[in-house]
Amino acid sequence: MAENLNKYSRTLTQESGNPAAQAMLYAIGLTEEDMKKPQIGIASTGYEGNPCNLHLNGLSVHVKKGIEANGMVGLIFHTIGVSDGMTNGNDGMSFSLPSRDIIADSIENVVSAQWYDGVVAVVGCDKNMPGAIMAMARLNRPAIMTYGGTVRSGRYKEQKLDIVSAFEAYGKKNAGTISDEDYKGVIQNSIPGQGACGGMYTANTMASSIEAMGLSMPYSSSYPATHEGKKQECEDLGAAMKIILEKQILPRDIITRKSLENALTMVMALGGSTNAVLHYLAIAHSAGIDFTIDDIQEISDRTPFIADLKPSGKYFMEDILALGGVPSVMKYLLKKGMIHGECITVTGKTVAENVESAPDLDFEAQDIIRPLERPIKPEGHIQIMYGNLSENGGVAKITGKEGTYFEGVAKVCDKEEAMFEAFANGEIKEGQVIVIRYEGPRGGPGMPEMLKPTAAIMGAGLGSKVAMITDGRFSGGTHGFVVGHISPEAYEGGTLALVEDGDKITINAETRELTLHVSDEELAERRKNWKPLTPPFIEQGVLRKYFKNVSPAHEGCVTDK
Ligand code: FES
Repeated sequence: MAENLNKYSRTLTQESGNPAAQAMLYAIGLTEEDMKKPQIGIASTGYEGNPCNLHLNGLSVHVKKGIEANGMVGLIFHTIGVSDGMTNGNDGMSFSLPSRDIIADSIENVVSAQWYDGVVAVVGCDKNMPGAIMAMARLNRPAIMTYGGTVRSGRYKEQKLDIVSAFEAYGKKNAGTISDEDYKGVIQNSIPGQGACGGMYTANTMASSIEAMGLSMPYSSSYPATHEGKKQECEDLGAAMKIILEKQILPRDIITRKSLENALTMVMALGGSTNAVLHYLAIAHSAGIDFTIDDIQEISDRTPFIADLKPSGKYFMEDILALGGVPSVMKYLLKKGMIHGECITVTGKTVAENVESAPDLDFEAQDIIRPLERPIKPEGHIQIMYGNLSENGGVAKITGKEGTYFEGVAKVCDKEEAMFEAFANGEIKEGQVIVIRYEGPRGGPGMPEMLKPTAAIMGAGLGSKVAMITDGRFSGGTHGFVVGHISPEAYEGGTLALVEDGDKITINAETRELTLHVSDEELAERRKNWKPLTPPFIEQGVLRKYFKNVSPAHEGCVTDK
């Protein structure tokens, strides 16, 4: 078996190669026979500090087993991970989006330096997945991503809970509508163990859409972290890696315009996170594909939103497996002509071949996924908004439940902290458009997520009574009338920087317009006195590098442009 694969080994360890490398590989326990085999780097974002990544090092061992059983050498290495759930609402959030690019850089760096013939990434949590895929696209060597899996739902007093329940309990605590005992009960029971946040938040959005794009195995996004199928998937990756090595099916054969369309169609159908916009723009950039936010709008225009999943709906990712998993959803979308079946995937087969044996969705037996003819919303929930407040685009999440039009007066908060202060002082009131600015890719820096403010608003029962706009991001867990990713950002002098308390703002999701109703003359006058708020802690280090290199939100916040 190894004989057949030898020709794909490009390591420097063969006879004519680097003797020091050979000596070192003997030192780690490889044999003479192993020296001829392809070497597969196994990149794990495992770390003990959060449930999304807790078990990934263990899964990497199963991947290694499968790789070795198929005549290759598997070598585990590690890269960083950052938990969005834990960084939300504090300065740590500035480091979250930059972690995506550090993960991409570090996987690219190790695989290039060690000259691995292929790479498997074992990842969980929001930034780890796009980071890994960006590295794979840059490297363009045989590659497979495996997802650590979703967490099971938590339970307290017969209520099913997840991470957002904890944030919303905070809003209820502030509003005085939850007892101390119940607050504690929710916090202590929201997350029962290992796995990524359990709704259709960013991790599950990326996992299911990457599966649709073809870079992970069928069912990878459906198995919860604690499901036996997850370990089996990791071991089965060995056979898949052998196939893509032999056939030289490379990431840039898999990531194409059509497969990006498949991925974004899945995001729209399932009601996924707005972060997917940033991440797929970045993945397309890494793969050298010209793909813009307007392409994403086109996909949204033609894709009904059909999944009743959290945050806006009632079900969890774990419930998807019972109805047949993501392959069943893909099979249905394929039958309806919504996705391209001919795209090649990491199994060596096409999308159509992969989903052929998946069970058909039974619309009588379940109400998680609706038929296209009876959608929650006839088009996608992600809408690209333009107007004098977002000349280069903003990203709205409009599920239809919050309406499609909002008119209100501005309540301006320079940074997220100012919003909390206003919230605590009772200054957040019905009819306001809360403007949280200086939270963009450069101004944040790092374009932090605004989950804590939106969850606080939801918890206080103001969800349908106020709207929020920002140059920061929203968590996949965010719901309500929100527009984020506003570009140009306030720090760059976007019109967002010129808004004052009491200005009239309209958000029209029908016409996709975000408008500040202040005359051009008045805005020109305000601009004369405007100075950017200086980001506070970027003298040196990782945020300094990010601040200097990051591209705007409408280009995906990449750092290698
Ligand atoms: Fe990791 Fe939510 S914090 S998936």
